Amino acid sequence: MQAMGIDIGGSGVKGAPVDLDTGELTAKRRRIKTPRPSTPQAVIEVVKEVVDHHGWTGPVGVTVPSVVIGGVVHSAANIDDGWIGFPAEQAFEDALGVDVVVLNDADAAGMAEAHYGAARDHAGVCILLTFGTGIGSALLVDEVLSPNTEFGHLEFRGMEAEDYAAARLVERDHMDVGWWASRVNEFLQHIDRIFSPQTIVFGGGISKRFDDFSHLFDTKADVVPAELRNNAGIVGAAMAAAGRIDV
Ligand code: BGC
Repeated sequence: MQAMGIDIGGSGVKGAPVDLDTGELTAKRRRIKTPRPSTPQAVIEVVKEVVDHHGWTGPVGVTVPSVVIGGVVHSAANIDDGWIGFPAEQAFEDALGVDVVVLNDADAAGMAEAHYGAARDHAGVCILLTFGTGIGSALLVDEVLSPNTEFGHLEFRGMEAEDYAAARLVERDHMDVGWWASRVNEFLQHIDRIFSPQTIVFGGGISKRFDDFSHLFDTKADVVPAELRNNAGIVGAAMAAAGRIDV
């Protein structure tokens, strides 16, 4: 079975159809810059362009960098405030004319890694963290998701954790990667203390450099790099569209 996944991020909107037997994209993903301001209407137009580009008429899953409950968006840390309270699922269905499921981006990535990637066959408590503009989180217990955990907004060292350790500090603000990784290590140790996960999956674009800094991590949990890299959100969104994630 195939479904289309769309991943809305702070910098790009990416989408492709996904083969759900293998977790692989069946066409080259289409990426369009996230409009600024990233209002719901502007982003919906771009999502429609991505879906039309693929000539897709089946179910679509859409991720947003926000808390999502019952298809309604409840937070907007790195996206326009107009999303707060926005009935996104209904609006996407109206615009696209197909069935749509909307969910949090890190939750989608976590489920994708649990089925096809780094967290496959990991029993017990597994936490996926995505390091990008913000820090996203997915909490899985025996591959069952507890949605909308938002660990990036835990208060840490007097600020929100994502202001202390998101990858934007390296990618945009030019912090030394070793210095940043030692901050990440402190945050991972904090997660260790509170949740005692067996596995932490380290995701986000910067995970491709995992081998450069993972020696700085000293945690009880096993920290493993994400395998689906930048496609995890798309794959998880497609899984949700196919009814394979309860959100
Ligand atoms: C948002 C989360 C999101 C994460 C990664 C955070 O700022 O609050 O919902 O998962 O960024 O995009």
